[in-house]
Amino acid sequence: MERISTVSAMQARAEALRLDGRRIGFIPTMGYLHEGHLSLIDEAKRDSDITILSIFVNPAQFGPNEDYNSYPGDIARDELLAEKRGVDIVFYPSVEEMYPHKQLTWVNVETVTEVLCGASRDGHFRGVSTVVAKLFNIVKPHVAVFGQKDAQQVAVIQKMVDDLNMNVIIRIAPIVREPNGLAMSSRNIRLTPEDRKNAVILSQVLFRAKDGILKGESISSVLAAATKDIQAVAHADLEYIEALSYPDLGPMTDFNNDLLIALAVRFGNVRLIDNILIKKSS
Ligand code: PAJ
Repeated sequence: MERISTVSAMQARAEALRLDGRRIGFIPTMGYLHEGHLSLIDEAKRDSDITILSIFVNPAQFGPNEDYNSYPGDIARDELLAEKRGVDIVFYPSVEEMYPHKQLTWVNVETVTEVLCGASRDGHFRGVSTVVAKLFNIVKPHVAVFGQKDAQQVAVIQKMVDDLNMNVIIRIAPIVREPNGLAMSSRNIRLTPEDRKNAVILSQVLFRAKDGILKGESISSVLAAATKDIQAVAHADLEYIEALSYPDLGPMTDFNNDLLIALAVRFGNVRLIDNILIKKSS
């Protein structure tokens, strides 16, 4: 496995691969890899012959009171896991490499960034879309894979790609969960053992909500039941639970669209998100 840490070397390598007729599959991450990230590698490999995984904890997507400084990392472990899973190149730039000068140019996707996590994480999605646009210009992928775990992020990136005519296919991989249902996340490591057990409530309420909707219960009644169930759990501080149409993230007036139920819950200073998609056809 190759390791590249400068923008110029990555761009030159990507250009050479393209000239060589290779199809580049790209998995952007912030590292501290778990099975959720690794499943994206599998997905990328299905549709490319070179896979490039980036590891970059992007300061631009963290608010001043968020966990940028305590975000977990272990590059040696990540490299081992990536190599075992068949990644060809790891791109691991420093902050100075990615943001050498004050960034004056930002990609700002409107509307879909204003709800759910965007409502409380001011500037978060501007940081995400900007860094992903930069990474696309550096890694030059044909295909990039994102996880449904961050459903709003997927909607934002797809809209950015469409609106800016970026020549990248976006593939979406399903949420990978622990055996008890907890969605895998680099942040789970920061939960206390008790909170980690209790955090199973997130997926439980989502599965119940989906069942309820499919049985014909109203959106408002399933959301009310989910809210009550989360509030009954020790240390669980519900930030939001909402049902929106997907992927436009507008109000769900009828069932003519796929329905996304998404939530964010804090346990102490650890903020967890999860979601479930109810397909129109299901
Ligand atoms: P990060 O949180 O490291 O996630 C990297 C990718 O892994 C994202 O596409 C995310 O949706 C996916 N992922 C995380 N947990 C998952 C799970 N349990 N199942 C399936 N996929 C999962 O998302 C980011 O980094 C950043 O915002 C980034 C896109 C890299 C831009 O900085």
